[in-house]
Amino acid sequence: MIAPVGTAEATSEKNADVFLPEHVRSRLLQNQSIQMLPWLAVKAVKMAEDPDCSMNEFTAIVERDVSLVSGILSLANSVFYSSGKPLANVRQAVIRLGVRTCRNLILSSCITSLMSRMSMKQEWIRETLARHGFFTAVLAQNLNRALSAGFDGEEFTAGLVHDIGRTLLASCYVDEFLEFDSMEFTEDADYLDREASILGTTHAHVGAWYATNSGLPESLIAVVRYHHRPTDTEANRRLVALIAVADHMANYAQRFENANDYDFSSNPYVSILEETGVNCAPLMEPGVAAQHLELAEDAVAKMSSLK
Ligand SMILES: [Fe+2]
Ligand SMILES: [Fe+2]
Repeated sequence: MIAPVGTAEATSEKNADVFLPEHVRSRLLQNQSIQMLPWLAVKAVKMAEDPDCSMNEFTAIVERDVSLVSGILSLANSVFYSSGKPLANVRQAVIRLGVRTCRNLILSSCITSLMSRMSMKQEWIRETLARHGFFTAVLAQNLNRALSAGFDGEEFTAGLVHDIGRTLLASCYVDEFLEFDSMEFTEDADYLDREASILGTTHAHVGAWYATNSGLPESLIAVVRYHHRPTDTEANRRLVALIAVADHMANYAQRFENANDYDFSSNPYVSILEETGVNCAPLMEPGVAAQHLELAEDAVAKMSSLK
């Protein structure tokens, strides 16, 4: 049982704004299976954020890491992207996939490898959280396209990482994790308060601490930190709200509820997204919600079959 925390001494690493109680911070730092993302991957992700990023510079960074090279080559030659002619050259593979897709792949493979290194008592927790991240990412990508929300790939990455704090906590609190995260995906308004009353902090803060200290871009840190409360941030609110909308849908799917019964008017984050200037009226058309959920289910099934 984790003791409730009262006025824990708060501390932070690089970002003075992200506070964790000392007992949580030391638990994270002591866990041998947790490492910050490799600097090369963070550099590649940051380069891909830059609209003037040169293909040659990006390729040169990727070529320095054999696992990045093999991941990009195998995706470029996979059924999703290959027209039949196999590529063995990284630069051609980057051109075929595009810098943004490579960025998503790099971050995705780093997070997957981080998760696979983490020791967990129950394998199903790791699998379920990985599926939830990917499901949210695909929904965010499709919603961004359908609503012309103006993002160019960062919404996928943001969906993927939004609950990284839960994965970290599942690894550090092997015996106690299910006491503060039931993994039932029923995330009501009191969800974070309940977590905080037991742990003294939330998965959103733990994830933001990790994202900050791994050097991830500000927009991703904002998503990790505020995806349950998008109105708590001014900066990046549109991206945070988009992920909150997708997360709500992914939670619904995770509860194995019928896609045809999903109702966007039950999603409290749609109005917040609308306030950022995105016209969400198309979502209210009959059948649209089910269509988004089914497309995401298909993508998750395809990804699982590639493993
Ligand atoms: Fe969350
Ligand atoms: Fe989530």
